[in-house]
Amino acid sequence: MLAAHGLEYRLVDPNDRDRFDAWVEADNRGFHHGRPREVDLQHERASFADRRVHGVYDPTSPESRIPVATISSWPTGLSMPGGRGVDAWAISSVTVAPTHRRRGIARAMVEAELRDAVDVGAALAVLTVSEATIYGRFGFAPATRAATVEIDRRRARWIGPDAPGRTHLVDPRSLREVAPQVIRRAVARTPGEIDRWPALLDKVLGLVDPESDASRRTRAVRYDDRNGETQGFATYRITRDANQAGVLEFDFLAAATDDAERALWRSLIEVDFIDKVRGLLRSPDEPLPWLLDDPRAFRVAEVVDHLWVRVLDPVAALRARRYGSPGSLTIEVTDPLGFAAGTFELEVSNGGRAEVSRVESSDASPAASRRGLRAAGGGIRLSVNELGAILLGDVRPSTLARAGRVVDAGAVELADRMFATSKAPQLSIWF
Ligand SMILES: CC(C)(COP(=O)(O)OP(=O)(O)OC[C@H]1O[C@@H](n2cnc3c(N)ncnc32)[C@H](O)[C@@H]1OP(=O)(O)O)[C@@H](O)C(=O)NCCC(=O)NCCS
Repeated sequence: MLAAHGLEYRLVDPNDRDRFDAWVEADNRGFHHGRPREVDLQHERASFADRRVHGVYDPTSPESRIPVATISSWPTGLSMPGGRGVDAWAISSVTVAPTHRRRGIARAMVEAELRDAVDVGAALAVLTVSEATIYGRFGFAPATRAATVEIDRRRARWIGPDAPGRTHLVDPRSLREVAPQVIRRAVARTPGEIDRWPALLDKVLGLVDPESDASRRTRAVRYDDRNGETQGFATYRITRDANQAGVLEFDFLAAATDDAERALWRSLIEVDFIDKVRGLLRSPDEPLPWLLDDPRAFRVAEVVDHLWVRVLDPVAALRARRYGSPGSLTIEVTDPLGFAAGTFELEVSNGGRAEVSRVESSDASPAASRRGLRAAGGGIRLSVNELGAILLGDVRPSTLARAGRVVDAGAVELADRMFATSKAPQLSIWF
């Protein structure tokens, strides 16, 4: 399709400096960031080392070394409810130059990614989005939400338990060694998190451009359990006007245990000479209000969709998670792009693990399918988007049925119980 428009779709090697730096220029421009400096380029080379990078080039453009469209992708684990991971395909850096918009370039690139993801055996594709209107057409749907939470520091008095370990203020650089294993365990215990890539840590710790103002402001707090083992850390920045108490903002808190999570929260909200604590990319289901004397000291300022999921292989995706209740459920999935279409039988045992099988159906009309689902003992009918939305437990099937987006053929209440999770899914980074 791109070739028919006179465009060239090319792989870009992050080690090919000239070509890769021009690609980063296009990516930054696409997201309205400034031109990359050498320190940014160095960080990008490290970040993209294990990614597949593509550019679309227009040989007739006066600056033809800069691609008119960018995309990148890589295989990643996605944590599922119940502690297992599933093979996913992460997509990022989707930009098209304003001079080349709305002629199908993004569609060509995204659909190519989905086909390749199927070829390498990914159960689903994942991304985070700039605008919520772009990816539904490709079968993606929001599967986790992210909250910005604010704590009124002067009203917040801790009534939770004392943590058995200790918190320490540390130089962010000192976390380089211990952080990866803490992050790995934190990711594994939180449905919706994806594997981290090594260069991300330097960003979180303010080490990409250590002399920049933001980096010099980055502070770190670490929690060690009673045996002295590090179980979590958070990085934060405090901003403050003259003669005023400050605002403490954090967007990275990794906790491998509940003790660590509570202790880190406590250390952040007990910093003196602070009016407000703001946490970004937090779970909409934070336990913090239950740890405060005055729960109204805690406020959810905003909740937005964050991780978007596109199921490609329903059998692998449905098998990977644990379910909240046993039962037999038939799920009929429609998919305009074809990857995930079919009827699937979910048989969940008492342990919450599922046997999933695809059943063949000869008559695919909606009325016949509803009859078939009822005859099979009850089921639900939905599109691949809604399957992605319910997969991690972020929204109940019955909520989507009330929105007319799930057809209840006698089993939506059972589906609610089965897809329920004990921990709300959360993705705490952008990618
Ligand atoms: C989003 C973006 C990549 C779309 O590129 P594009 O090549 O113009 O998109 P396409 O021509 O392939 O459009 C495919 C479909 O998506 C729709 N679409 C594209 N961008 C859209 C947007 N921002 N909002 C709503 N619909 C959009 C098109 O109308 C088209 O719809 P149709 O298939 O029903 O006709 C481009 O606008 C862009 O670079 N935006 C800024 C960076 C950004 O936000 N990227 C997304 C990162 S998550």
